[in-house]
Amino acid sequence: MTKRLPSTGADDRVVDETGCDTSDILLVHRIFRWGFREMPALVRAVPAGDLERAEIVAAAVELIDKALHIHHEGEDRFIWDRLERREPGCSLHVDVMKAQHAQVAELLDVADGLVAEWRTGADPVTGERLATALESVGTTLGVHLGREEADIVPIVSRVFTQAEWDEIGEHARGEFPKETMPVQMGLMIDAVPAGERDEWLHENLPLPVRALWSLVMRRKYTAWQRSLFPEGMPALA
Ligand SMILES: [Fe+2]
Repeated sequence: MTKRLPSTGADDRVVDETGCDTSDILLVHRIFRWGFREMPALVRAVPAGDLERAEIVAAAVELIDKALHIHHEGEDRFIWDRLERREPGCSLHVDVMKAQHAQVAELLDVADGLVAEWRTGADPVTGERLATALESVGTTLGVHLGREEADIVPIVSRVFTQAEWDEIGEHARGEFPKETMPVQMGLMIDAVPAGERDEWLHENLPLPVRALWSLVMRRKYTAWQRSLFPEGMPALA
């Protein structure tokens, strides 16, 4: 859908053809829904004072919280203003998105503070507060993601170019610590329904990345899964 033409500098729409594949955001949303569904139970299951187990769970909570912060930052930076310029009729939807992002950010701040407190002592009372805070994020986020998928994504896929859409993913890759790449990649792959995975890998990952995944990253991801879910990780897709 992307066609490079000499830029006039007058309007970015003349550079690329509009229309983009937004299916990756549905995978990302699936990871967040899964994460905020599973994390409260993981936190509650940590025995009182078990600092080693609390650290494993706290690191996973921290990762998914950070991922959500980064994902929303990317949307704030690269979607709302551009979408309103292209489709002024979307303004009300954009206002809802901004307000929901603010709500989620507030709830995430509460959860982030509780993770920091809980991981130092694995105190069950703090753990319960953290689990409840994560459930609140999950509830508010669930409403937001549903609205975004219904009211925003279909319009963006029509009026953004692929290069514009890809800026969100590039922003996320730039913000994440490199050592978290195997977990991010593994969760994305697991978010694809099993029957579509091989095709997805071939269509979405260049050969060197697929090789890196098979040779190095998959092993690290499996180790992460086993440490977090010793009895088996609940499916994402
Ligand atoms: Fe969002």
